[in-house]
Amino acid sequence: MTEPVKVVAVSGSLHAPSKTIALVEAIVAELGRQLPVDARIIRVNELGPSFAGALTRAELPREVEDALLAIETADVLVVASPVYRASFTGLFKHLFDFVDQFSLVDTPILLAATGGSERHALIIEHQFRPLFAFFQALTLPVGVYAHDSDFTDYRISSVRLEDRLQKAVHKAIPLIQSHLAEREEIAKTLAGEATVETGPDPRRTVRLAS
Ligand SMILES: Cc1cc2nc3c(=O)[nH]c(=O)nc-3n(C[C@H](O)[C@H](O)[C@H](O)COP(=O)(O)O)c2cc1C
Repeated sequence: MTEPVKVVAVSGSLHAPSKTIALVEAIVAELGRQLPVDARIIRVNELGPSFAGALTRAELPREVEDALLAIETADVLVVASPVYRASFTGLFKHLFDFVDQFSLVDTPILLAATGGSERHALIIEHQFRPLFAFFQALTLPVGVYAHDSDFTDYRISSVRLEDRLQKAVHKAIPLIQSHLAEREEIAKTLAGEATVETGPDPRRTVRLAS
């Protein structure tokens, strides 16, 4: 892998400062310790009131279209939202409502959330995972859930959370690397540079090329 991995992170928090942003920054920093990354963080609270009111992609301001293109072309996504009424925030969902339905097929996605209590830790499994399953994305096996007492002044202050975050990234790295290696093989196959013996699963090549 020679090129930096294009990591795009999305925070669904409506506030600044934000615990969700602190968590996203820590996950992106940990990924950066283990892989060469080119990272961008998208904060929905910065996308502006015209984003909240838009009903079609054509109505979106230029910077939101730019954020959507970044999401759709990312090598790896990190997605995080505060828990609001047992789900992600409305603006987080509103952003993904504009994302092209097939642009995230097989994209590795690390899931994360922050909540006021530990009781909503399963939001990762029953809200985030189904949303990204719809997109046919590769949701990474370990998600990261944090709650208010894991932070002090909007900084992570819990060893438990640091451990969880490192475990999530550690488990993600081989999957990300094999996904990128396979994607490279597919590109070579499509360009006629790989032999059938060394190339990727042809069924997957057909799916990604379509
Ligand atoms: C409108 C609203 C609804 C919330 N609903 C929940 C909830 O259902 N469960 C929960 O654990 N925390 C809930 N919280 C607390 C936030 O999820 C929590 O404080 C979060 O870490 C805030 O993240 P932020 O600092 O990035 O904005 C809610 C907060 C607000 C403002």
